[in-house]
This record gives sequence, structure tokens and C-alpha cells, in this order.
Amino acid sequence: MPCYISVCLYIWLGLLPGRTSATVIEDIEVLVMLPKNNSYMFSIARVAPAIEYAKQRLKIGGGVYSGFNFNLRYEDSNCGNDALFSLVDRSCEKKPDLVLGPVCEYAAAPVVRMASHWNIPVISTGALASGFSDKEKEYSHLTRISPSYLKMAETFSAMFRHFNWKDALLIFDDDKEERNCYFTLEGVHLKLMEEYQTVHIAINTKEEGLNADDIINYIYESEGQ
Ligand SMILES: *[C@@H]1O[C@H](CO)[C@@H](O)[C@H](O)[C@H]1NC(C)=O
Repeated sequence: MPCYISVCLYIWLGLLPGRTSATVIEDIEVLVMLPKNNSYMFSIARVAPAIEYAKQRLKIGGGVYSGFNFNLRYEDSNCGNDALFSLVDRSCEKKPDLVLGPVCEYAAAPVVRMASHWNIPVISTGALASGFSDKEKEYSHLTRISPSYLKMAETFSAMFRHFNWKDALLIFDDDKEERNCYFTLEGVHLKLMEEYQTVHIAINTKEEGLNADDIINYIYESEGQ
């Protein structure tokens, strides 16, 4: 009997005029987490037009996704923990179906962990640090659409091979806040240390200024060894 009902249902669906079975009509709640502060190149004001354009294109394109209603909601992620707090606050009412962003590493990390736990996909142009490559556990639901720092580091590996270089000294500015330089060079360090001798020096130009003499002395000393 249930079998008979489903056959009838298929026939009935098949007879519906003008609707292809591929078009799914569904509301998708999208939480966009980006900083409001316009000094970031990925601020809400800069990125929102692209997202709205993509939404329009999907709608008028008439493709398989034209039935989706993407309901966008923008939250200020700032560049730190604010992102996690707005995800949790927001999810008390209703969990989003999709998260776009955050970009900053420290904003993205807790959001992606929480979202992965809740089975919510996260798409980000950031979160480029090497730690996010762990797709087995806590960052399982993250898709990064820019090349990660580890990927970028392959360029350096290729240069080392080409020029037959043997060791590297990595000097980076660690601001102890967003730590973009730290995460960038971490990828290079992880990649190069597989084959080459790699040492690093961290400086904090905000607190200590830049003392080039110290760095040059350090290089001389390490070469003397
Ligand atoms: C925006 O970010 C910049 C750079 O991090 C900071 O100097 C500035 O104070 C921020 N502005 C606001 C309104 O928070």
C-alpha cells in the first residue's frame, strides 16, 4: 500500500506543469560575519555588494539554485571573539544554515569549531592559518576559498629547490593581536622545515620598534656557528 501511494505521488508530481524536479524551493538563513570597521579590506560595507550580487545572480539565473531564498543577515565579527558571541547569540533564536566569514584567524577559529559541532557549513576567504587544515575534527565544516598560507609556502619550497638554497632565517613582526605575519610565516616555516634548516626571529615593532642592527648581528652570529 505505501508503495502504491508513492507511485501515485510520483505520477502526480510528474504531471505538475512547468516545474522541473531539479528546482528546490527553500529558505536558507545565511549569517555573514565580517568586521564593520572599514579599515579592513573585507569589511561588511566592502563585501556586502558582492554577496548581494551573487544572490541576485542565483535568483535570476534560473538554474537549480533559483528556488533558494538566501536570507542574509550581517553581524559585526570584529577581528576577535565578538564573532563567536554573535554566532551563539544569534543561534539562540534559530541556527543559521550557512555562515560566510569570519576572515580573521582569531575570529574564525571559535566560530568554525562551534559551527562544525552544529553541522553548519562555513565558507571563508580568510582563516588561512595552517591549523585550519585539520579537516578531521574541529574545522571539519570549513571551506576556504583563498589559498592557505601552507599553499602559499609551496612557492618558497619551489624557490629553495630552484636556487639550491639550504637554510632560511624567517623574520616576522608579531603584533600579538591579529598576528597576521605570525600565521603567514608559520605556513612557510612548517613547509620549509620539512627539508631545510629553518630558524626564525619574532620582533614586535609596535612595542620595540625595528632595530635592524640587532637583526644583522644575529645573522652574523648564527653564520659564525
Ligand atoms: C578600526 O580598526 C583600526 C585598525 O585596527 C583601528 O585603529 C581603529 O581604531 C578601528 N576603528 C574603530 C571605530 O573601532
